[in-house]
Amino acid sequence: MSLDWIARRGGPLRGRVRVPGDKSISHRAIMFAALAEGTSRITGFLEGEDTRATARVFEQLGVRIEAASPSERIVHGVGLDGLRASASPLDCGNAGTGMRLLAGLLAGQSFDSVLVGDESLSRRPMRRVTEPLARMGARIETADGGLPPLRIEGGAALNGIDFDSPVASAQVKSAVLLAGLYADGRTSVVEPRPTRDYTERMLRAFGADIEFAPGRASLMGRPRLRAVDVHVPSDFSSAAFFIVAACVVPGSDLVIEGVGMNPRRTGLLDALRLMGADIEVGSPREEGGEPVADLRVRASELRAIEVPAEVVPDMIDEFPALFAAAACATGTTVVRGAEELRVKESDRIAAMATALRALGIAVTETPDGALIQGGQTHGGRVDSLGDHRIAMSLAVLAQRAERDVSIGDVANVATSFPGFVELANGSGMALAVSRPD
Ligand code: S3P
Repeated sequence: MSLDWIARRGGPLRGRVRVPGDKSISHRAIMFAALAEGTSRITGFLEGEDTRATARVFEQLGVRIEAASPSERIVHGVGLDGLRASASPLDCGNAGTGMRLLAGLLAGQSFDSVLVGDESLSRRPMRRVTEPLARMGARIETADGGLPPLRIEGGAALNGIDFDSPVASAQVKSAVLLAGLYADGRTSVVEPRPTRDYTERMLRAFGADIEFAPGRASLMGRPRLRAVDVHVPSDFSSAAFFIVAACVVPGSDLVIEGVGMNPRRTGLLDALRLMGADIEVGSPREEGGEPVADLRVRASELRAIEVPAEVVPDMIDEFPALFAAAACATGTTVVRGAEELRVKESDRIAAMATALRALGIAVTETPDGALIQGGQTHGGRVDSLGDHRIAMSLAVLAQRAERDVSIGDVANVATSFPGFVELANGSGMALAVSRPD
């Protein structure tokens, strides 16, 4: 069903908000708990469509998962060799993380599997995982052009490899490490730039024999994984929309509570601070082995910057939100080295450039980024192209628009951020749902 939003200039953002659980950690918690021996309890689980799709996949593979209460899952792990074949294809929905990590994990099983996804996922490149997995001995067929569906043949004998990854991608690294659980010997991955290390941290917590440091990870095959409880912190990438909104809506003073602060995720804070943002990190603490904090964000006048290349992977999911901030800043913001944005849920450079231009902001696209000239946002009609982060970023930008902004095709916001509209309105933004015929 098609769903649109009408967003308009909002009041200041005030008070305290808490955003839902981290998507990356929620996917992995289900996966590793399923492969462990014993029962794991996951709290703070993201009730989003992406992560629920992953839980459904494991149920199809014979794992019993109870939803004891909202944001909680009890996973009855079956051990490394306890998964069973599914008679029907495994549907990853919109989730690249689900499909790419499952490709590695299923390559080591004794049975065949087929992984499918929605329209957007069916356009996303999979060779980046199937190629290294093939080097390990996996047998995976893709559709033309290396696209999903993935047909994974069971019974392949996998061997550990030393993989020098050409892309800074946690999904690629994780797919190889998960296949490495089933491989003979040691599997090592080196990345061109460090990416989020949740797979490494969580596999260690579940008992795997793994060593890692920023940009490298190495594990021994055939570990025994043992159940542990996982607490999922709030998703920094979901907090990002509130951070930017509070920066750009005059008079705002908002606290976002319990936000996951893994340094491989918080590059947006560095970029916004360079732009002159007023963001205080309060009560830093550890929850479930991850750093978390309460962020206090007050409105300020933002200035354009050149986003430093080294923070790009640490804010890879935050560029749509950064584009919105740049549209409100004085001067021309320059983004480079972010070509990965072109293969996300949409081509995020093109999607944001098109939408910003429709709202009167001058944007020049480059192959690996954009130049965004800050200015007054007009009203108008824009399309999120079914990409959750584009939709939410445009809703944030609309809080500074002269007139109403109608944002098309926003239903996929439920993949990562159920309850966004209510939370946004509760904090002071102005956002209404409409159902076009
Ligand atoms: C993710 C890794 C990133 C990120 C995605 C989640 C993960 O993708 O964009 O939203 O959970 O590992 P890439 O690894 O493709 O950069």
